[in-house]
Amino acid sequence: PVYRATTTAPVNIAVIKYWGKRDVTLNLPTNPSLSVTLSQRSLRTLTTASCSAKFPKDDTLSLNGKPQDISSSKRTLACLSNLRSLRQQLEAADSSLPKLSVLSLRIVSENNFPTAAGLASSAAGFAALVRAVADLYQLPQSATELSRIARQGSGSACRSLMGGYVAWRSGDLADGSDSLAEEVAPASHWPEMRALILVVSAEKKDVPSTEGMQTTVGTSELFARRVESVVPERMAAIEAAIRDRDFPKFAEITMRDSNTFHATCLDSWPPIFYMNDVSRAAVRLVHDINSAVGRTVCAYTFDAGPNAVIYYEEKDSALVAGTAKAILGSNTEGWGGPFYETLANVT
Ligand code: DP6
Repeated sequence: PVYRATTTAPVNIAVIKYWGKRDVTLNLPTNPSLSVTLSQRSLRTLTTASCSAKFPKDDTLSLNGKPQDISSSKRTLACLSNLRSLRQQLEAADSSLPKLSVLSLRIVSENNFPTAAGLASSAAGFAALVRAVADLYQLPQSATELSRIARQGSGSACRSLMGGYVAWRSGDLADGSDSLAEEVAPASHWPEMRALILVVSAEKKDVPSTEGMQTTVGTSELFARRVESVVPERMAAIEAAIRDRDFPKFAEITMRDSNTFHATCLDSWPPIFYMNDVSRAAVRLVHDINSAVGRTVCAYTFDAGPNAVIYYEEKDSALVAGTAKAILGSNTEGWGGPFYETLANVT
């Protein structure tokens, strides 16, 4: 027989950024981070995992129709071997279960958005891979327990295993067992939250996150301060803002943390630039909208690429999304988007 499980995983966009590793092999972060999970309607990875004695001996993975070389991806191998050993434990405890752990896996994955465009594709990708194989193996582990495995695929992936507002606790232990994601609030807690993604470029990013992080950790003087005091204070403050559904506070922390993250990139040696002129036009527009309205109605954030994500509340969508589309959409070069996105409460 062929055993099979299919799943989807959402993209998440951090408002407190993960940037820096304290352990590269286990993928342990230097600081905690917090993200908002986006709706899967327009951004998701769809993954099918199957296994069978009829498959070729080695595990295979294809992404958007292209075969990937698993043997050279330590991260994928780490995720699969963790999942296999959990399945082995189940099979050892119950001999009536089929021995799926000895069969080779075929994993087929597809994104409905540009891969590696700074759109957190690795987050949805590894979250979907881990979830699909965990479902195939009928593992009893919770999303938080599985986040330990997904983290080894890509740090941000651990936050895509759950919906709503998700924190990745950096943990203190050397083995990483306390470095995992947990839900801070479900999407239904603050269902008015919206995100607009402005796809400035669908090109592959200049400096991959892992490499960029290593440069920043090793060379930026600003970085140490970010890790020691800036991020811990912001984590506490943004969790309170989410609890109180205080948009102006949520927005200011989000924008400041994006700016601090990109400042540590600029402070790296050699400096790293992810934002471009179009990104900066989006920053100015958000500040202009907020000051014209006289209250904070929107916030920008940028990952390791030029694309802007703008958070706002549903009641302000005509104002924020309408203005952003009209102004940025009409006068920019190389504009690939924009497209709308709602949060995870809408599936
Ligand atoms: C800027 O999760 O892609 O998007 O762990 O090396 O795979 P690896 O890095 P990755 O880094 C994401 C960095 C970020 C911020 C964030 O998502 O928190």
